[in-house]
Amino acid sequence: MRRTVKSIIEKKGKEKIVVLTAYDFAFARIVDEAGVDIVLVGDSLGMVMLGHDSTLPVTMRDMAHHTKAASRAVKNAMLVADMPFVSYDTPERALRNARRLMQQAGADAIKLEGVRGLEKQIRDLVTTGIPVMGHLGMTPQTASQLGGYKVRGKIQKEADEILKDAKELDKLGVFAIVLECVPADLASRITKAVQCPTIGIGAGPKTDGQVLVIHDMLGFSGKVHPKFVRRYAHVEKVIAKAVARYRYDVMYGKFPSKKESY
Ligand code: KIV
Repeated sequence: MRRTVKSIIEKKGKEKIVVLTAYDFAFARIVDEAGVDIVLVGDSLGMVMLGHDSTLPVTMRDMAHHTKAASRAVKNAMLVADMPFVSYDTPERALRNARRLMQQAGADAIKLEGVRGLEKQIRDLVTTGIPVMGHLGMTPQTASQLGGYKVRGKIQKEADEILKDAKELDKLGVFAIVLECVPADLASRITKAVQCPTIGIGAGPKTDGQVLVIHDMLGFSGKVHPKFVRRYAHVEKVIAKAVARYRYDVMYGKFPSKKESY
């Protein structure tokens, strides 16, 4: 059975919550079987799976397609799907699109970025029974409005705003909040100030859980290499080496062998 919202919330203050992205059946199966708590079908798929420069071109169709694939693999973790850019700009659209990700694509919960101007959407989703994960700090869908992909909350005014937003999200009933690229001290203050668990990415060690983009932690080369990413493997190099060996074997008649033939 998949993890429930209750089981995730109950971990706060007791056990760290482990979150990792996955966007297809093969990766989601490995991540799920490794025992993570939450598999996130993030809109980061726009970059790592679809080759876009940002998350902005990601559509509901993309999200539903990848969530369906991941959902076929996830048996134990909770499956959270991102609401893409402008898919929750009105309460009606938010409800319709969240329902699509849950009822048709198999997500257990949705994630959306920000809170200001979205209070009604978030309240409606929560009262309808749709578990919502918030996302504050450096929010990629509004990165250009916020001055680009950089740490947020270094100056007092910004830190106060993020803390206030986290408290508001908590009050609105989100079951967890992702804090992306904020100073560790601020993430720690927020974690103490809210009832729901916080999940950090580039937010230091004091959050209730951590999330990374799987392609980053596996060592696929991306355009940027943020310092908060720890590389647990160098999978791109392994793949490139294997492909080069295969190419050589085919070119020089070394593959297939007699044993590999009928
Ligand atoms: O889209 C994503 O993968 C995310 C995580 C980085 C939190 O939002």
